[in-house]
Amino acid sequence: MKGIILAGGLGTRLFPLTKITNKHLLPIYDKPMIYYPIRTLVDAGITDIMVVTGGDHAGNFLRLLGNGQEFGLKAINYAYQEKEGGIAEALSLAEYFADGDKMVVILGDNLIEGSIKKEVREFAEQEKGARIMLKEVEDPQRFGVPELEGDRIVRIEEKPQDPKSPYAVTGIYMYDEQVFDLIKTLEPSERGELEITDVNNMYIEKGQLRYSVLDGWWTDAGTFKSLMRAGKLVAEREGVQY
Ligand code: DAU
Repeated sequence: MKGIILAGGLGTRLFPLTKITNKHLLPIYDKPMIYYPIRTLVDAGITDIMVVTGGDHAGNFLRLLGNGQEFGLKAINYAYQEKEGGIAEALSLAEYFADGDKMVVILGDNLIEGSIKKEVREFAEQEKGARIMLKEVEDPQRFGVPELEGDRIVRIEEKPQDPKSPYAVTGIYMYDEQVFDLIKTLEPSERGELEITDVNNMYIEKGQLRYSVLDGWWTDAGTFKSLMRAGKLVAEREGVQY
């Protein structure tokens, strides 16, 4: 199983913090943001990892992470996203790296309390298709939101004004090799991006999307509030008094 971390984009919601650095290099308590998704993959037993990044500060990832010794890795693979064409576009750059294998994709600004070991094992046993992870949240309109019929997801809506469930689709996705052919059929959305939600909806139409509800806390860190929350949650997990 391959691991792909998407750390491109401009992080405009965090301006001016992201004016002179990449969002994923900002601190979350005592570590740069990018450390957390790497740790999530390594803890789940995934050591063949690619980081997709972009923008003016991409070189800093190499300086910071090197060959991944700090995570017990022998090497980290890197790809460069020329423009901010969306999450699905960033993922498309990992096609040659995935090389026909299944993959776990994590957005570089997504942090979790626990582990995805169990879900990765379940996906390894899943014959084909995709698997997403859901988490109940107070503000689903900020995320991709599933519409459920019984325990089946019938559709995912990206940032709906009127969410059909209290769940967010988290930025942890598992795909088989079909994902790259699906991305090639995408058209840019209204915000000019290739949307990962459209990819997930295609897997739903094929009847090949499964899901789990994540245990423990989950947060993104792409807004001022969620960046602050992420730092607090990590510090609390480490038992820090402040
Ligand atoms: O955090 C989960 C949410 O992430 C999902 O619920 C949504 O369905 C999904 O669209 C996404 O929503 P955001 O609007 O929060 O995504 P954002 O544009 O902030 O990008 C999240 C990460 O994806 C970012 O930290 C780096 C990566 N990315 C994003 C873009 C637009 C790239 O690598 N390249 C890109 O061009």
